[in-house]
Amino acid sequence: MLIAGLLGLVVVAAIGKGAYSSFHPVKDKGIPFYSTATKVVQSKASDMYRNLGCRNCHTLWGVKNMMETVPAPSLDGIGSLRSEKWLYDYFSAKNPQSIMPTRLKKKYGMPSYAHLSETDRHFMAAYFASLKVKDWYLEEVKASEYKKLTGNPYPNAVK
Ligand code: HEC
Repeated sequence: MLIAGLLGLVVVAAIGKGAYSSFHPVKDKGIPFYSTATKVVQSKASDMYRNLGCRNCHTLWGVKNMMETVPAPSLDGIGSLRSEKWLYDYFSAKNPQSIMPTRLKKKYGMPSYAHLSETDRHFMAAYFASLKVKDWYLEEVKASEYKKLTGNPYPNAVK
């Protein structure tokens, strides 16, 4: 089960890497992930993503820290799956697993970010809600990857 999950990540990483290197001037219709946030917001969000350790567990823009083995879901396209409000509540929860149950041991699960300022939690929620995935990719790939990682069916309507 874990192996299958990790294989899923490798596939996503491979697709995303292609997306990253051809991100700028060429507009490739095959790239499944994009953000609707401004450059300024994206740059501040990247700093937070790094400083808060999100990248130790998650994949974003197809990039995963290869030294880490936590099978956390990819955050690419997360805004097509979760609303800004859901994300804000999730980051604000003292126990995120009460919102989204997990198969993982506590130490590998999503940590609480309730200690961050309200402004920072709002900012993060807005940024992650801006990360979208094109429909074809959502249907074909992300749903099966999500199921493997979490054991839960993919909630394909933004709530
Ligand atoms: C210790 C590893 C770890 C760290 C650090 C971490 N996460 Fe997570 N995150 C997870 C795991 C694992 C899940 C899946 C739920 C669970 O197992 O608790 C998750 C779930 C999520 C989800 C919900 C995904 C979905 O499909 O609905 C979001 C959004 C998220 N994390 C964002 C972040 C952000 C933003 C940060 C940094 C501020 C972060 N995570 C830091 C491990 C981590």
